[in-house]
Amino acid sequence: MADSQRHPFLHGLSKHRGAPPTVVVIFGASGDLTARKLIPAVYNLGVDNLLPTDFHLVGYGRKEIPDDEFRTLAADAIKEFSRRELDDEVWGRIAGNTTYVAGGYDDPEAFVRLADHIAKIERQVGRDVQALFYISTPPSVFAPILRNLGASGLAGKHLGQPHHAKVIIEKPFGRDLASARELNGTIRSVFEEHQVYRIDHYLGKETVQDLLVQRFSNAIFEPLWNRNFIDSVQITVAEEVGVGTRGGYYEQSGALRDMIQNHTMQLLALTAREPPVSLDAESIRDEKVKLLKAIQPLRLGPDGDVARAQYAAGMIGGKPAQGYLEEEGIAAESKAETYAALRLSINNWRWQGVPFYLRSGKRMARRVSEIAINFKRPPGTLFAESEKFNLAGNTLAFQIQPDEGLSLILNAKIPGLETRTQPVKMNFRYATTFGSNTPEAYERLVLDAMIGDGTLFIRGDEAETSWKLCTPLLESWSDAGRKGMDSYPAGSWGPASADALLAKNQHHWRQP
Ligand code: NDP
Ligand code: BG6
Repeated sequence: MADSQRHPFLHGLSKHRGAPPTVVVIFGASGDLTARKLIPAVYNLGVDNLLPTDFHLVGYGRKEIPDDEFRTLAADAIKEFSRRELDDEVWGRIAGNTTYVAGGYDDPEAFVRLADHIAKIERQVGRDVQALFYISTPPSVFAPILRNLGASGLAGKHLGQPHHAKVIIEKPFGRDLASARELNGTIRSVFEEHQVYRIDHYLGKETVQDLLVQRFSNAIFEPLWNRNFIDSVQITVAEEVGVGTRGGYYEQSGALRDMIQNHTMQLLALTAREPPVSLDAESIRDEKVKLLKAIQPLRLGPDGDVARAQYAAGMIGGKPAQGYLEEEGIAAESKAETYAALRLSINNWRWQGVPFYLRSGKRMARRVSEIAINFKRPPGTLFAESEKFNLAGNTLAFQIQPDEGLSLILNAKIPGLETRTQPVKMNFRYATTFGSNTPEAYERLVLDAMIGDGTLFIRGDEAETSWKLCTPLLESWSDAGRKGMDSYPAGSWGPASADALLAKNQHHWRQP
């Protein structure tokens, strides 16, 4: 592979951040996430020379899959889903150390076999190997896997040393506060918190990581970053796709559980937190938890802080799209919301009185995730809105995806012999400045877990704090059934009830 295809920044990184010899064990290795994200992530780390010299990959699942067949499945996944083409030399090195263990998730004997398999790898390598367990199965088997990792001794492997065993857990971390606490209880009965890496893949996105750098390495933002200058904040995570083939999962989830409780709340915490005292994982996560704790309970009911809706038939990209209730696997009287919007108040010194609006939906007008900071308007003594002065409030927008970048809306004089104004946009685009082949979130996250850096992962108390806010709302929606469920045409920017939520404060949603 040509050097130019390798990521220059990651090459710099590799000199400073090395992982010890590692075996990554993926539970649920025949699944969708493994094929679409995990195998391509491992492969791209290989391309960037970021895998440790002694790196082994072990797939685990109930299906009997011979090693050769698993390697072929993995190569096919790379061909289909990797951001870079399959390079035989790079893949050959990984494939040579790729094996598969078949077994049940609740079968203690199978975990003994897995432990023997890992011990054999250690003998082959000739030294201790760090075991990184990636639980990529449906949540129903999280608990048996965790318990068997404990019972087989694998969870405690090399504990007390830097290359101790680690576990990556995929979302969802429970489906409400009680189940999140229960899951955390199971995790903590087996692993110590510092061994646990809870994934929210939004934290691995380049632009989300850049929020820390933008806010705290540029002195111009901090003086303005408060209730004196900011009027409101809007966080949007909009998708063009519908539920597709994931109807079974989505019916049990809905937008609040699937997107708001995790990805959108994380964007909020990163935007509104206080400066951390240092860049270490605990300082960064402490500030996020502090911020989440300062969010006031949501006001529920018809005049409350929330809106929910399902998409109806509409048009996406010029083509007709069916409504949610017509999709495969969806109940005729489904109560799952495909769109949710919240108005949040943060009761602390910095943010009191500034509304934070969050929304996320499927089948919206376009795929876009952004954080828009709307600044207060200057006093209108010199330039009041008129025919001559077309003025906009200043908005700083972090575009998380696609077209990753940062834009600032300012008012400018239109060149000419009289003073007329127009809003203009200053743009920074990552693709223009840095090139477009940026690493996928899962690459960064798998690498960080191998290195033992928990900064971009969710801590147990963080997950519980977020569920504490969302659970009363989920319960009230569950009690209400379909009462209060609004709808919006596929391909639109959401329901009227969400517009009304902002109109109460004379605000309106941006159409990014
Ligand atoms: P899958 O439904 O594809 O399941 C993964 C594997 O788990 C299957 O191949 C199967 O392997 C095993 N499995 C499936 N159902 C069961 C069951 N009922 N009981 C026991 N084992 C089962 O899941 P995904 O790969 O889509 O997702 C894995 C995890 O990642 C989930 O927690 C999901 O919420 C999360 N996630 C997924 C995303 C995605 O894009 N797919 C995005 C974000 C998070 P076998 O039969 O061989 O044992
Ligand atoms: C997942 C949700 O966590 O995030 C999906 O389960 C959603 O429903 C996906 O489509 C969105 O991720 P991204 O990276 O495509 O914005």
